[in-house]
Amino acid sequence: MKKYLIIAASAVAVSAGANLQAADLEAGAATYQPCIACHGPTGQGQAIFPALTGKDADYLADKLMRYRAGEQVGENTALMAPHATGLSDEDIENVSAYIAEEFN
Ligand code: HEC
Repeated sequence: MKKYLIIAASAVAVSAGANLQAADLEAGAATYQPCIACHGPTGQGQAIFPALTGKDADYLADKLMRYRAGEQVGENTALMAPHATGLSDEDIENVSAYIAEEFN
């Protein structure tokens, strides 16, 4: 019985750890909804709006944090920055994972 409890407790610890690590793709999909207007439903981009496909999650998250911080990134940063300012660290992690997983 005691042995069983120890195994059960460590299984809970392992799954809690996994939850902290893994991005939430469903939440990422929800965060992506307002982005569709410019980047398209599959992140293909159009005209001055860059494609988000073929870019890894770290690259995307780094860009989003720079826009959020108010950094001038490219010529059209003024169009993008307002859409990054409201994102939390978790939103950025989730939406970046969603784009990298679903659009590549
Ligand atoms: C009003 C149109 C618009 C909306 C809405 C918008 N973006 Fe952007 N996005 C842009 C433009 C324009 C750029 C290029 C900005 C520049 O020149 O620095 C950009 C750049 C980016 C980049 C950097 C791409 C690269 O290759 O460097 C990422 C990542 C990004 N957007 C993600 C998002 C996400 C996620 C959302 C939704 C939360 C979003 N965008 C909403 C217009 C938009």
